[in-house]
Amino acid sequence: MKKVGLVGWRGMVGSVLMQRMREENDFDLIDPVFFSTSQAGQAAPDVGKSVSVLQDANSIEALKAMDVIITCQGGDYTKSVYSELRATGWNGYWIDAASSLRMDEDAVIVLDPVNSKVIDNALEQGVKTYVGGNCTVSLMLMALGGLFEKNLVEWVSPMTYQAASGGGARHMRELISQMGVIHSSVAELLDDPASAILEIDKTVAETIRSDAMPTDNFGVPLGGSLIPWIDSQLENGQSREEWKAEAETNKILGLSEAPIPVDGLCVRVGAMRCHSQAMTIKLKQDLSVAEIESILAGSNDWVKVIPNDRELTVKELTPAKVTGTLSVPVGRIRKLNMGPEYISAFTVGDQLLWGAAEPLRRMLRILLQ
Ligand code: HSE
Repeated sequence: MKKVGLVGWRGMVGSVLMQRMREENDFDLIDPVFFSTSQAGQAAPDVGKSVSVLQDANSIEALKAMDVIITCQGGDYTKSVYSELRATGWNGYWIDAASSLRMDEDAVIVLDPVNSKVIDNALEQGVKTYVGGNCTVSLMLMALGGLFEKNLVEWVSPMTYQAASGGGARHMRELISQMGVIHSSVAELLDDPASAILEIDKTVAETIRSDAMPTDNFGVPLGGSLIPWIDSQLENGQSREEWKAEAETNKILGLSEAPIPVDGLCVRVGAMRCHSQAMTIKLKQDLSVAEIESILAGSNDWVKVIPNDRELTVKELTPAKVTGTLSVPVGRIRKLNMGPEYISAFTVGDQLLWGAAEPLRRMLRILLQ
């Protein structure tokens, strides 16, 4: 059995990974070794088999003993150990949730329902570093994979509605706290059916703008508002999150030599862990909506086409419906007024599952075949 070192398994993405590995009985197939940056020597988590105590995640010697290392510890950790570990001649598989190695020539971005051929080629060529993609990119490709596979996309403009979880666990807590502060500010008025809505609205607006709103993590209010910027500012006016859309999409698809333009605005909204995206797509051909739906639906086992019907859409195509599941619904598919090759689509996906943990877990499974 392969010795698989797990680092960062206690954080939010790591916990989702552990949950999925338990559900899929992955621990039966590996010899797991749990690492910690702060609690080496303490007991490892219960995974239904005997495992050693926690190993030191900063010990190159301990890491070197692994056949595979899977880390959700974050980019700083990767930067601090990866090069040093490789410099010792360690030739094991490194599977990483962080973005730091994503665009490296020696690394492949993994999303096997979409790019299994790219992964298989890389394995044959001896590539040993596999990195999970940015969550919005992975979720867009899970939804639109069929159109890309058939080389039907001339360009795509995804406008995102990204959940609090993309910022981290503390951001999720802050969103709920903000919602609580807003509610508390008008709770009495809400209980009184005779109260005036404009008075409620005025109090809510004042509260949102006041120091009562906890904003340590987002920096500004998200509850009752939105934030039209995610990640750092680049010189060309894009946010880093927006830059990733084209760079990572094309790397995942193995098209970096002749990239497909992918660009839009990324916006944080008050959802918990599902990213949504409204996409304008320019196709290379005039296809009927039925043909497009059939191509999308046939692409992988998780994408689910929602017919462009009001009732179905408001029930099925929302974070409320999708959260905590591997389902990736895509709907609102219709021809736009700009011309027959222009279509709209809307998709929702859990950013901790397909957007983070699941592609890593599946990469491990591929290595175990
Ligand atoms: N950068 C993403 C976000 C999450 O902030 O929503 C990580 O892929």
